[in-house]
Amino acid sequence: MENNNSRKKEHIRHALHDKVEYGSAGFEKILLKHKSLPEIDFDEIDLNVNFLGKQLKFPIIIEAITGGFDEGGKINEILSEIASEFGIGFMVGSQRPMIENPALSETYKISGHPPVIISNIGAVQLNYGITYENIANIVRYIKADAIAFHLNPLQECFQPAGNRNFKNLKKKINEISSKLRIAGIKVIVKEVGTGLNYDDVKDLDADCLDVAGFGGTNWAIIEGKRADKQAQNFYNWGIPTVESIRNIISLKDKRNLEIIASGGIRNGIDAAKCFALGADVVGMALPFLKEIYKDDKGEISENINKERAKQNLQKFLNKFIEELKPALFLTGSKNIKEINEKYSMND
Ligand SMILES: Cc1cc2nc3c(=O)[nH]c(=O)nc-3n(C[C@H](O)[C@H](O)[C@H](O)COP(=O)(O)O)c2cc1C
Repeated sequence: MENNNSRKKEHIRHALHDKVEYGSAGFEKILLKHKSLPEIDFDEIDLNVNFLGKQLKFPIIIEAITGGFDEGGKINEILSEIASEFGIGFMVGSQRPMIENPALSETYKISGHPPVIISNIGAVQLNYGITYENIANIVRYIKADAIAFHLNPLQECFQPAGNRNFKNLKKKINEISSKLRIAGIKVIVKEVGTGLNYDDVKDLDADCLDVAGFGGTNWAIIEGKRADKQAQNFYNWGIPTVESIRNIISLKDKRNLEIIASGGIRNGIDAAKCFALGADVVGMALPFLKEIYKDDKGEISENINKERAKQNLQKFLNKFIEELKPALFLTGSKNIKEINEKYSMND
């Protein structure tokens, strides 16, 4: 069987060194409504949001990336410190390696106090022996507020020895969700880069959905390169992020549900567009990963220098926030809620 540890390392290497983004998430189709008389004071714009019952200083989540090997531990340490400093959410990468080998638990340790901490595991593992106790343990270990079950059928298709039995998963997710909720743990269901669609998620008993749509990190590329398989014809597969958000957003009117927009969000204007579409927070993975490895010239280096990584991440997040604010200002929105629906489609 393929070793989890080397798999996670290879994902990082390909994500850093290959062009692993493909196509468009669809942001060019959204036009935010400009106001020449915003009638608000820029300095009073408030980016605080309530998410999963906690307060975030900015409406941003660091999405699941890694864990399970030494370098992954370093990445989680840096990202959790940054999440703590900025008051944003942090999701660890799949914790399956620490279930299979408890000695790897250390590599998921959270440093600092991010306001929202999220565990992560592949939902398909519910068909491969992972139990409620396993899940309760990985959540407890990092003192998480929620667990994200990822849905990654495309990735499993192209991954060597992928876990492809997706039978009965909806029922299993719902069963485990009700148990987790009794234990005070919220449930997120997320994709990993090919987007969620309404019919699949409408009956899922989740507190939050994370679209992780097409247009950002592309798993046909990453797994295709690892396996040396011909996955090119699938590079274009998936639901673009904008379409995925529009597809599922009406679920918010039907029940208490929060939405993370992710997949190809690369700047503050992309984020503003997601909030206009109705998302509660935005998530990113690849941009954060790259900042960790950038050297002084902005090139990807092989090693992590913690101080430099943190400076890069601070710069990236500050720039992101400084783009989000004008987008709110120019639409006359004092906060994230007020930009909702202030867009038109440019199809
Ligand atoms: C190197 C790498 C590893 C990832 N590992 C996981 C994972 O373990 N679990 C998960 O749910 N998503 C994982 N993802 C998917 C991200 O959490 C995110 O949903 C997706 O990459 C879309 O965001 P992006 O376009 O900003 O990268 C990973 C992404 C990257 C780049």
